[in-house]
Amino acid sequence: MLLALCAATPSLKAQSKTPQLGTNTIKEVIAAMTLEEKVQLLVGTGRAPKPKPPGEGISNGWVPEPPMIGYTETKVPGAAGNTAEIARLGIPSLVMADGPAGVRVSPTRKDDANTYYATAFPVGTLLASTWDTELVEAVGRAFGNEVKEYGVDILLAPGVNIHRNPLNGRNFEYYSEDPLVAGKIAGAIINGIQSNGVGTSIKHFVANNQESNRNYVSSTVSERTLREIYLKPFQIAIADANPWTVMSSYNRVNGVYTAQRKDLLTTVLRDEWKFKGFVMTDWGGGYDWIAEMNAGNDLIMPGRPDQIATLISAVKHDSLSMKVLDQNVEHMLNIIVKSPSFKKYKYSNKPDLKAHAEIARKAATEGMVLLKNNSEALPLPKKVKSIAAFGSGTYNTIPGGTGSGEVNKAYTVNVYDGLVKAGYTVDQNIKNAYTGANNDKPILTDALIANASVSNDIAVVTIARNSGEGHDRNVANNYTLTADEKLEFKKIADAFHTKGKKVIAVLNIGGVIDMNDWQDNADAILLAWQPGQEAGLAIADVLSGRVNPSGKLATTFPAKYEDVPSAKNFPGTPAEKPAQVLYEEGIYVGYRYYDSFKVKPMYEFGYGLSYTSFDVSNLKLSSATFKDKVTVTVTVKNTGKVAGKEVVQIYVRAPTQTIDKPEQELKAFGKTKLLQPGETQVLTFTLTQADLASYHTDSSEWIADAGSYTVKAATSSRNIKQTATFMVAKSIVVEKDHKVLQPDIKLSEIRP
Ligand code: BGC
Repeated sequence: MLLALCAATPSLKAQSKTPQLGTNTIKEVIAAMTLEEKVQLLVGTGRAPKPKPPGEGISNGWVPEPPMIGYTETKVPGAAGNTAEIARLGIPSLVMADGPAGVRVSPTRKDDANTYYATAFPVGTLLASTWDTELVEAVGRAFGNEVKEYGVDILLAPGVNIHRNPLNGRNFEYYSEDPLVAGKIAGAIINGIQSNGVGTSIKHFVANNQESNRNYVSSTVSERTLREIYLKPFQIAIADANPWTVMSSYNRVNGVYTAQRKDLLTTVLRDEWKFKGFVMTDWGGGYDWIAEMNAGNDLIMPGRPDQIATLISAVKHDSLSMKVLDQNVEHMLNIIVKSPSFKKYKYSNKPDLKAHAEIARKAATEGMVLLKNNSEALPLPKKVKSIAAFGSGTYNTIPGGTGSGEVNKAYTVNVYDGLVKAGYTVDQNIKNAYTGANNDKPILTDALIANASVSNDIAVVTIARNSGEGHDRNVANNYTLTADEKLEFKKIADAFHTKGKKVIAVLNIGGVIDMNDWQDNADAILLAWQPGQEAGLAIADVLSGRVNPSGKLATTFPAKYEDVPSAKNFPGTPAEKPAQVLYEEGIYVGYRYYDSFKVKPMYEFGYGLSYTSFDVSNLKLSSATFKDKVTVTVTVKNTGKVAGKEVVQIYVRAPTQTIDKPEQELKAFGKTKLLQPGETQVLTFTLTQADLASYHTDSSEWIADAGSYTVKAATSSRNIKQTATFMVAKSIVVEKDHKVLQPDIKLSEIRP
């Protein structure tokens, strides 16, 4: 026995000397790590392999599933990926799960009677349309609680890619065409999520504005455009909310994969913006693992054994330094020590889904945008009792888009159920036509429509569109309504209008659609977006007037697709499989283009109606000469008959003597509380030096040019209520940055 004890002593001693994460410093832990352990930590543990089809194998052509949506069976089933555990040093494995509208985990599991449904919150585009950072932060708090209670450390969201073109299949996950709105909304949701002690991964960094050939396409973009438009939302959100991680994107920028660009991942992100977390690849992003490590892309996801082997060999053969590995490991350990997994948090698997459903419903109502409301068709008058509810979206209401942004929710309340729960009688014959047996495609006969127009008080037509990862939308039949849809809409409108009854359109869409050839047939149009699992209830809340709509467009509805400034360059060349996409419109994205080039949109950025009316007055500046900042105040009064909220948008027109600038740019925004009829509220905004600055590429400086600035208090980009001016006496260099994206690659030099 004594012998046995003696024999055990040295190994016990050695063990007690092994540094432990949390007990020892991170530097000591790194010093104790072997090369293999370091590399292991920097490469994810892989995804669950797709079951091999029977009788097939690599040798006869079978290849594993391409890197698309992440999926792992270990730790938390359905999560997108894990990092490696290094038990010897007390380093736990982190769990990462999608996505932007709710945590994506497996809802049901093998040999387990429990369920693990997550709340499907409204999609990003809807959240941005609330223009309400407090509300979005509250959504984030509930959302982050589910992340934590389902055992996840890092949520792979939010996505802040700019709505460059309405056809991008993933626009629903993203926020806006405007970097300020995208950045502020992202900051709010990150703050809410991370207040739970879990992390986020702001994505996809950067210039990932389409799905066509997403793993290869190169975005050809100028440095100024990148900094002012595409990097900006990341910069704002990182400054406001300090996300734990950043996810680099699939695409290349000016010929080089973002995951391999040191200028973006280190110079901009860490040196200029002081980002302190770690950077991970998108799932399968990039191809040169050594370049990724050197660029400061700390973690390769989802991870493969050959990547580990490549990195180990690179260190052994001096093409990758230990210093780089140590630095990347340090970035990761700094975050790992904050994680629930490190803290051994005992997650319940029982978040309060009921309470979160209420938050999802409230947020949904606040981000819906009333586009049209002729003769006060909405809210539905009290005398409306029975509704003829047309459109497949009534019965198959879309809560959110597809792909990694899709949430495994327990249910979706469709528009039909929402209307019924709100107390309306909804036509059963129409319902049967859409949902009856053997009825893939509903047959709306003229008789059915005619009868419905007799027996109901009003028609509600729900137009639905879905899209998602891997594919962009097309103009014909997706961006545009199909010929059948337009014809049906017209037949319905004719039948109801002849009887003096109204027709309401509900748009259950994730991205902008064409409004021509049909919208004149609608008396009112409610843009409901993809409002999450409580969809039908939230839509009924707004239609009935239980909630007064206060959403505003965070993305323009153009008059026609051809007007979109990127239309002729989207999705790049060659069109079938674009190798590059030219950002020829530069900084003129969205309203920056429409307003500067006097192109009239269908519904402009910032637009949205209410059931009440507001007066915006008394715009005051703290000073007529600008020094460090200027404070802007404005009074909002509810001049109508029902309670409501207004969004005030502060646009600034800057002097253009030195470089080209857009006609105006959004520099601040705020939403009132619920104002009762006659009630007023003063909103206050601050404009800083940085808010006035544009990027001067020649000198790599952000400069607020000398001259006169016009401040506009507005309720949409084209509904300017008040203006005032101030002077900047001498131009101010706000910041000097590094030259990035060098050398400036010419189009002809980009590899096909
Ligand atoms: C998507 C990411 C997602 C990841 C993990 C990728 O295909 O682009 O947004 O987070 O998969 O599922």
